[in-house]
Amino acid sequence: MDVSQIRQEYTKRKLSKISVKKNAFEQFDLWLEEAITSSCHEPTAMIVSTVSPQNTPASRVVLLKGVDDGSFVFYTNYSSRKGTHLSGNASIAALFFWPELERQVNIEGRVEKCTTQQSDAYFNSRPWKSRIGAIVSPQSKIIASRTVIKKAFVLEAAKHLGETVPRPEHWGGYRLVPERIEFWQGRPSRLHDRILYTRAGDAWNIDRLAP
Ligand SMILES: Cc1cc2nc3c(=O)[nH]c(=O)nc-3n(C[C@H](O)[C@H](O)[C@H](O)COP(=O)(O)O)c2cc1C
Repeated sequence: MDVSQIRQEYTKRKLSKISVKKNAFEQFDLWLEEAITSSCHEPTAMIVSTVSPQNTPASRVVLLKGVDDGSFVFYTNYSSRKGTHLSGNASIAALFFWPELERQVNIEGRVEKCTTQQSDAYFNSRPWKSRIGAIVSPQSKIIASRTVIKKAFVLEAAKHLGETVPRPEHWGGYRLVPERIEFWQGRPSRLHDRILYTRAGDAWNIDRLAP
């Protein structure tokens, strides 16, 4: 299949330095809300990229579970591949792509683990079966078959029938504290709008980037 002629002209919206919010988080909230109310598919899905101890990058999708206290929060297995990367190098990049709005947001910063209280609170809000899944899945490890994990699930579920399921230590949240957030709006003729926020103490510097 020849993909070289697939192209889309972006015409829906504009973005200017004068129209954006002074605070990058307020601007993000505005765009996230628009993504949700415009029925974008998986509006909270973000691609997060980490770096291995050998300096090789890796990316995968996770779900944003909150924007609070100057950070973007997601939950995962701390012993997973991404968790191993982040324990050696806290640098991370996150990317939202909302094609229905012809928008992307690029976030770069560092992660910190969420407090155990925050991770517990979110874990306890998850469906019971998802909590069992989090306990039994050695995320990112090679397993012999699907049967192995299904058996582990059934055995673990039997232990917690009718009970609350405690959060395993290997599972919890990360807070991405950004240094840089770029808002990208597709425009005609590939002359896209790019507005970059960089942290300046408690405030943000705002610049326009060439498309
Ligand atoms: C839409 C979508 C949402 C996902 N959400 C999460 C998530 O919130 N947390 C998570 O650990 N994995 C999530 N995953 C699975 C990850 O993409 C990935 O497969 C997993 O975290 C293992 O990644 P790793 O081996 O690089 O650590 C999601 C995948 C998709 C496609």
